[in-house]
Amino acid sequence: MAASGDPTRPWPEEVAVVVVGSCMTDLVSLTSRLPKTGETIHGRKFFIGFGGKGANQCVQAARLGAKTSLVCKVGKDSFGNDYIENLKQNGISTEFTYQTNDAATGAASIIVNNEGQNIIVIVAGANLLLNTDDLKEAANVISRAKVMICQLEITPATSLEALTMAHSNGVKTLFNPAPAIADLDPQFYSLSDVFCCNESEAEILTGLMVGSPEDAGKAALILLQRGCHVVVITLGAAGCVTLSQKEPVPKHIPTETVKAVDTTGAGDSFVGALAFYLAYYPSLSFEEMLKRSNFIASVSVQTAGTQSSYPYKKDLPPTLF
Ligand SMILES: Nc1ncnc2c1ncn2[C@@H]1O[C@H](COP(=O)(O)OP(=O)(O)OP(=O)(O)O)[C@@H](O)[C@H]1O
Ligand SMILES: *[C@@H]1O[C@H](CO)[C@@H](O)[C@H](O)[C@H]1NC(C)=O
Repeated sequence: MAASGDPTRPWPEEVAVVVVGSCMTDLVSLTSRLPKTGETIHGRKFFIGFGGKGANQCVQAARLGAKTSLVCKVGKDSFGNDYIENLKQNGISTEFTYQTNDAATGAASIIVNNEGQNIIVIVAGANLLLNTDDLKEAANVISRAKVMICQLEITPATSLEALTMAHSNGVKTLFNPAPAIADLDPQFYSLSDVFCCNESEAEILTGLMVGSPEDAGKAALILLQRGCHVVVITLGAAGCVTLSQKEPVPKHIPTETVKAVDTTGAGDSFVGALAFYLAYYPSLSFEEMLKRSNFIASVSVQTAGTQSSYPYKKDLPPTLF
């Protein structure tokens, strides 16, 4: 596809945050109630949104000012074309955004009733075709980044290879094990400089109930013992908990209470923000990076939508930068 060493294309060399992950088109219908089997009902509103954890995290980092590249795969279809346009509009390098004829762009069909309850069908499609050959093509951008993020919405073997490539080149790895699987390959832990998940993911991974910062501290310690350098568990309105090999004592980082309108994608806003700080403000204390990431994610819950709710640098207090 693209020659990374080509001097006429210098921009990708500066990429500080690279994301290897998913793109999904959200097809959302708002209805008064959820349909029964075999039933056809009329909804009151339909909209298409841009989602997928990989793209969401990349978009948040880019909106804070990070030079980013998204290594992902979409279909050679109109949703794929629109998605690439969306990434470009967010200033993200699409040099390693591949398009395939062999599957459709990942899609999530979502029905939401008046009570906010939903039913969702995800077809990962092209996301599952992102493979290790694709990563080899992107090797230059991955190995020269400051931070690489990945999640579990692509084939686990591809995420693992991306983490291995980054790790062996001294690139900081930020791994978000979402959606969580109980028998996660142990290598994911040892390859994670920062392992960041939410409460329910921590429960699935550890088997512990996580309902408080204290519980989260206990779960985080188990995850740390599996070999990560740093663990962060996000706690919604309660902020997050962290601990590290250096300081294996759980620390709760609370956040200011805000009136939440739509929390969809808050975790991705948090991860994208954290990657931005790790890449651009490495001398800040980790606790300060978490405080700022809490704040940015709390802004995202105060407006509707996923990517549409993510703040830009220009809309945030200058003290964050
Ligand atoms: N109601 C809230 N008030 C303030 N901050 C919030 C609120 N909800 C979420 N946040 C911020 O967003 C971060 C991530 O939230 P959460 O732990 O709910 O992630 P998540 O469950 O992955 O999100 P999602 O809703 O996308 O599944 C929190 O650590 C916090 O900083
Ligand atoms: C955690 O994230 C998953 C997506 O991976 C989501 O389905 C779940 O609702 C989240 N849990 C909490 C407690 O927000």
